Amino acid sequence: MKIREQSEHFRKVVVVGAGSVGATYCYALAQSGLADDIVLIDRNQDLVKGQVLDLVHGQPFFPTVNIRSGSSEDFSDAQLVVITAGAAQKPGETRLQLLRKNAGIVGGIAEEVASFNCRGVILVVTNPVDVLTYVALKRSGWDRSRVIGSGTVLDSARFRHLLSNFCGIDVHNVHAYFLGEHGDSEFAVWSMTNVAGISIDEYCPVCAKCTDWQKQRLLIEQEVRDSAYYIINSKGSTYFAVGLALVKITASILRRQNSVLTVSAMLGGEFGINDVCLSVPCVLSDKGVVRIIKSPLNSKELDSLSRSASILKEAIASLS
Ligand SMILES: NC(=O)c1ccc[n+]([C@@H]2O[C@H](COP(=O)([O-])OP(=O)(O)OC[C@H]3O[C@@H](n4cnc5c(N)ncnc54)[C@H](O)[C@@H]3O)[C@@H](O)[C@H]2O)c1
Repeated sequence: MKIREQSEHFRKVVVVGAGSVGATYCYALAQSGLADDIVLIDRNQDLVKGQVLDLVHGQPFFPTVNIRSGSSEDFSDAQLVVITAGAAQKPGETRLQLLRKNAGIVGGIAEEVASFNCRGVILVVTNPVDVLTYVALKRSGWDRSRVIGSGTVLDSARFRHLLSNFCGIDVHNVHAYFLGEHGDSEFAVWSMTNVAGISIDEYCPVCAKCTDWQKQRLLIEQEVRDSAYYIINSKGSTYFAVGLALVKITASILRRQNSVLTVSAMLGGEFGINDVCLSVPCVLSDKGVVRIIKSPLNSKELDSLSRSASILKEAIASLS
């Protein structure tokens, strides 16, 4: 049943892909009260039916929200389309074959969203997220601001969690970012890391908690990079924290919050990089990326960003 009449303030989110990530995101989104209408689409009709039933049975406990299965026609008036659809790697299948398959899936969905004259934002989550954001942007034909990837929002959260634990400071008083590829070449931006309002370079020498903070930094940075591998080895896939990261991105878009988030965005000369999607600090609102913050990265960080860009450009080139 439709709970609220459609109006310009009606907040509709369409999620394509009802697997672990898509369903967990819907669950977290429903609890957040951010959306009026959550529409789930998947090529596996039984799965989408089951996920929707399981979610709607929670309606007495959620803030008021419609949750339903849908079709591509739902793209037309969505404020946000989140793509988590993808194929899993089959035995014997190479990474490149999987990349081509997922590029076909995500590119096809982006083209369909555009064909319904959607005025919203496309948020790509399917991995490899930076390459697939690029594919979705090209296939949609949209302005670069409106097609983004979840990028390193999750990795930045993992980074903040580890710093918080290590420094013994509430995670909400730790501001820290991972940039670049959502993958092995991502890196910590220590020059932008801030604990309790103090830059980490000033904080570490006066904090009595550890003696070898330079070594600790390397360990923390590597642990962030290894997080996904560790979780996948333990339980098969990751979905809770990414679901929450997606809700944070959604909040900034639906509520025009101008939050600074490290989503994957197409660069057009920022940081001396062109024609590739990767994570940099972006100001997010209802029109997508309204501004890229040109943070004063140091030369090592700029090199790391260029390295990520080169790796991603190679992956994009391998698709043609
Ligand atoms: N970017 C991130 O931070 C991040 C984090 C975790 C997972 N992921 C990625 O998210 C993706 C989804 O992960 P998951 O664990 O939910 O996988 P999953 O296999 O559980 O779900 C994928 C779903 O996509 C559906 N699907 C495939 N092709 C489709 C199509 N053409 N149209 C509609 N639906 C289609 C499948 O039926 C399946 O239900 C993966 O690519 C994963 O690597 C990204």
